Amino acid sequence: MAYFEVRNISKSFNEYKAVDDVSFMLEKGEILSIIGPSGVGKTTLLRCLNLLEYPDKGEYILNGEKIFEATEEMPENEIRSIRKHFGLVFQNFNLFPQYTVKENVTLAAKLNNIDPDYRNKADELLKKLGLEDKADAYPYTLSGGQQQRVAIARALELNPEVICFDEPTSALDPELADNICKLIRSLKKEVSAIIVVTHDMNFAKKVSDRIICLKDGKVDRFDTVENYFS
Ligand SMILES: Nc1ncnc2c1ncn2[C@@H]1O[C@H](COP(=O)(O)OP(=O)(O)OP(=O)(O)O)[C@@H](O)[C@H]1O
Ligand SMILES: [Mg+2]
Repeated sequence: MAYFEVRNISKSFNEYKAVDDVSFMLEKGEILSIIGPSGVGKTTLLRCLNLLEYPDKGEYILNGEKIFEATEEMPENEIRSIRKHFGLVFQNFNLFPQYTVKENVTLAAKLNNIDPDYRNKADELLKKLGLEDKADAYPYTLSGGQQQRVAIARALELNPEVICFDEPTSALDPELADNICKLIRSLKKEVSAIIVVTHDMNFAKKVSDRIICLKDGKVDRFDTVENYFS
């Protein structure tokens, strides 16, 4: 049985179908890359997974349990509780400039009041990501790669089962792209499924176990990385 399954997700903006009946599944520990040219719906699909966009149709099954089915109306607290299964690292990281690194990482845990040990968890994550000496720094004093690692720590702090990255290499020079590839692969131990949107084929080949290629919002191809590139 697949660990995470996406069934028939669609999302339209006015009459335009940005995501059109997308389905795929992942085994536990797998990394999926979503590829395809600009405007095919990659980011929209990622935002649908995190319920930042509410899908018109479709469902998510996690570990055998249906955690989401698109309905006409869903209360905000229910959306928020489903969202906890997912972490998202934005393309431009979206750190809060007025907060320190540690405050950025702990803010959501503090507001959601879920884990009394959240400060220690943040310290552990910052250490793991090589940021222990940056806990009190403000985002504007950090390099792009460091800001990205803060964004990753912030996503991991809430213990998501699925973590999503939107174009993780786009703000980095090629040397750092190699580091983020290793870092994402190492996250297999922390999270159960990883989904990466990228237009960088070389990166997709190195980082992923499976590939989904979108075309006009639809799945053009879904395959293992070996089959896709052979
Ligand atoms: N909030 C929105 N309102 C209206 N149209 C939108 C909205 N978000 C996305 N779209 C449209 O949906 C389509 C898919 O956009 P999306 O951002 O998902 O593409 P993408 O594959 O991530 O592209 P890129 O590689 O350039 O980031 C585009 O035509 C875009 O204009
Ligand atoms: Mg995009």
